[in-house]
Amino acid sequence: MAIAENLSALKTRIKSWRQQNEVIAFVPTMGNLHEGHLSLVQKARELADRVVVSIFVNPLQFNDEQDLSNYPRTLSDDVQLLSELDCELIFTPTEEMMYPNGMASLTKVIVPGFDDKLCGKGRPGHFDGVATVVTKLFNMVQPDIAIFGEKDYQQLMLIKKLVTDLNLTVDVIGVPTKRQDSGLAMSSRNTLLSQKQLVQAPFLYKTLLATKQAIEEQGETDFSLLCTQAKQQLQKAGLEPEYVDIRRAEDLELASADDKQLRILAAALLGSVRLIDNIACDLA
Ligand code: PAJ
Repeated sequence: MAIAENLSALKTRIKSWRQQNEVIAFVPTMGNLHEGHLSLVQKARELADRVVVSIFVNPLQFNDEQDLSNYPRTLSDDVQLLSELDCELIFTPTEEMMYPNGMASLTKVIVPGFDDKLCGKGRPGHFDGVATVVTKLFNMVQPDIAIFGEKDYQQLMLIKKLVTDLNLTVDVIGVPTKRQDSGLAMSSRNTLLSQKQLVQAPFLYKTLLATKQAIEEQGETDFSLLCTQAKQQLQKAGLEPEYVDIRRAEDLELASADDKQLRILAAALLGSVRLIDNIACDLA
């Protein structure tokens, strides 16, 4: 496993793989790797000859300075974890390398329809930052395949739309959410939770499951009522819900009772830590 700390080291590797027609799979991350990230790397391994993982905490997608400065950075642990997997290359660019001319007048990639709902609403500019950095990383790494987690379902949908709309030649693959035994979705931000909060946090997933059950098993079709009840449940458990929403899985538009493939998505604050989660809800 090699580490490319700059663009020219990255380019040298990619060029030689391309010349040999090898299939390259890419897993973009912000580091502080956990089993969720590693499941993406394993998927990449299954699908490609070469696996590239990037680690870059992207300031452009943070709309909260505090969140950016608190974001856990654990590069040497990450390198250790990846060295135990079969990964050819880790790309660790610096902010200066990614944004040599700063971010104020940067050309941005804006994918319409994401800022006004779910995580986009509470985090203005976040998805522009994600779309822009992922486009830049795709151009640098030139992967055939890119792997993203369903944990960030709206982000996965954003990347799929971006790739389709701009005719990028990369196949985007989604991987199911890895969870703790408690049901809590693995997340880099979980390391910021106290012992007490670690007991409360799985309630987010439990609430999503209860909502799914109400739809799938009890035939409940009043989605707005279900979301209101879910938010009340979260509040009772000491979480501060930002949204609970039931959407069409294919495009994240508001779901109606006729839709069969749904996604239930939620975000909540636990202390200062923002948790997100989502699950599929399929009607026969
Ligand atoms: P990060 O939060 O580090 O996540 C990197 C990838 O891991 C994303 O595709 C995310 O959905 C996936 N992931 C995180 N937790 C997961 C879990 N519990 N199970 C499965 N997959 C999981 O998402 C980002 O970084 C950034 O926005 C990025 C795409 C790298 C752009 O900066």
